[in-house]
Amino acid sequence: MRILAIETSCDETAIALLEAKGGINRPFFRVIKSLVSSQIKIHAPFGGVVPSLAKRQHLRNLPLLLEKVLGKDPFSQKQQIEKIDLIAVTVGPGLEPALWTGISFAQQLSQEWKKPLAGANHLEGHLFSFLLSSKFFDKKKSESLKNYSLKLWFPAISLIVSGGHTILVLLKNLKNYQKIGETLDDAVGESFDKVARLLGLSYPGGPEIERLAKKGNAQAIAFPLPMISQKNFNFSYSGLKTAVLYYLRDLNMSTKENNHNFWKPGAFKINPSLRQDIAASFQRAAFLPLVKKSSLAALKYQAKSIFLGGGVAANKKLAQMIRKEIKDRKIKANLVVPPLSYCLDNAVMIGVAAYLNKLSKKKYPLKANGNLNL
Ligand code: KG4
Ligand code: ZN
Repeated sequence: MRILAIETSCDETAIALLEAKGGINRPFFRVIKSLVSSQIKIHAPFGGVVPSLAKRQHLRNLPLLLEKVLGKDPFSQKQQIEKIDLIAVTVGPGLEPALWTGISFAQQLSQEWKKPLAGANHLEGHLFSFLLSSKFFDKKKSESLKNYSLKLWFPAISLIVSGGHTILVLLKNLKNYQKIGETLDDAVGESFDKVARLLGLSYPGGPEIERLAKKGNAQAIAFPLPMISQKNFNFSYSGLKTAVLYYLRDLNMSTKENNHNFWKPGAFKINPSLRQDIAASFQRAAFLPLVKKSSLAALKYQAKSIFLGGGVAANKKLAQMIRKEIKDRKIKANLVVPPLSYCLDNAVMIGVAAYLNKLSKKKYPLKANGNLNL
């Protein structure tokens, strides 16, 4: 089955063309093309994603990306279109105006080309993106390994960490999964973006903080470790970002003209080495609960693996900390991390989720749902 997948839930416009075959116990994917057009530069001056600007950019980018995927020549375009069996589009969660641009575009194509259309859940995209890791997928050939076995990897714990979500999931197989915990307030990626703003770093904050943290002392400042000792699988990140704010405020580093709005970029004048220590200490405090709770879940459910997914999974330190915890506590689970391009938002994972839904006969209404969950 050849799938054209479309993703517009936030600030990346993405289209992918992929082939999928096989059953729910051993699906096989081949990525023919995957394009992502990032809007980071447009949103960076505002310190976050502006929904109306995102919508405008998606509207502009979608036809351009489609032409790049199908080729310019009308004859070969027609040939490409003929081969497509399914159009898949993200219906949520995300910014509804942004989601609608993708859904309407997909609906137009579906009518014009007379092809079936399926809605997909962005979070299932992140959840199933472990299938694109080197354990299951040959990056060079851009296709699934010929004879991998999923049996050896289940049950599994999946940690989805993105700008909008922080979720722990227990997977029995690709069809049966259940959420076992999530954040009660901010998402971990959101806390990276907000703390980056306090530190005067550009949006998105995750990569910037990771870069600075490498040079800082993670033990320098004892920020609170949200919910770490509670025996459940939930998280909380709003207190941590406030703790960083209070720490900076109490150092009296706010500039005079900004001392009423600490969130304004440049509100604090921080010397570079302190900024590195704050980045490292914050990152440690943000990751420790993720590390502890995912390994606790792996122990409780005797998981054979821990899968990571979502933008924050692109952070090398997170994987390093989880690997160390697994080793120190002698947990018999392997960590699986998708390559960077499949941790961040992309359309391949949407095609993968749509195919798996088709196999398990699961359907999503073709309607933007900003609050869709797992
Ligand atoms: O999955 P994603 O691309 O979009 C959402 O579905 O939200 O995740 C974006 C989030 C942002 O909050 C960004 O700051 C964070 O992922 N992120 C990182 C890193 N790269 C991206 N966080 C920590 N370290 C990174 N290297
Ligand atoms: Zn995402």
